[in-house]
Amino acid sequence: MAELEKNSNKDIRLHDKEFKIFISSSEISIIIENLAKKINNSKIHNPIFIVIINGAFLFAADLLRKVKLPNTEVSFLKLSSYSGTKTTGNVNELIGLSSSVKNRNIVIVEDIIDTGITLEKIINILNEKEVTSITTATLLFKPEAYQKKIDIEFIGKEIPNKFVVGYGLDYDELGRNLPHIYKLKD
Ligand code: IMP
Ligand code: MG
Repeated sequence: MAELEKNSNKDIRLHDKEFKIFISSSEISIIIENLAKKINNSKIHNPIFIVIINGAFLFAADLLRKVKLPNTEVSFLKLSSYSGTKTTGNVNELIGLSSSVKNRNIVIVEDIIDTGITLEKIINILNEKEVTSITTATLLFKPEAYQKKIDIEFIGKEIPNKFVVGYGLDYDELGRNLPHIYKLKD
């Protein structure tokens, strides 16, 4: 345990960049606990949680274990986009939407919302499929980077406009399995 604590304070290197710890796994647990309470209080009727992978896989696993809404369904969606790391907005299509979403209440589960371009595209595509309602749950939100007007109902934590990795978030595919969230060293 002591060893773990010690290691968790160390800076890490992914590809060519150095990162330092920003949000510890214990803080992440508290954030998720609070989010789950808000979601449970919302009383969304027969929701389908649509988890945006790869980034939201750990967040969704921890969050959804705490969601107690009756008749909850979970589905996964991968965005086809050309760049894995940059927020280019090249989101063309949704792959893997297996369940029928027509006339359903959707909760989008995202790891992070930056410019909001990705979120807007997901919402547009879901609306074409005639869903009843869409709400959004995101672990992290960068208000300074956000360019859209869409309400984000469930926000875990607002963060400055800095690049972060860990707990699902990657830097060029590295860092997703880290238990803590790290930010780029200045
Ligand atoms: P948006 O379309 O600009 O809102 O960006 C959303 C997507 O960009 C997220 O789902 C992430 O995949 C990626 N992204 C944005 N900011 C970061 C970051 O700080 N670290 C890792 N990925 C990020
Ligand atoms: Mg993502």
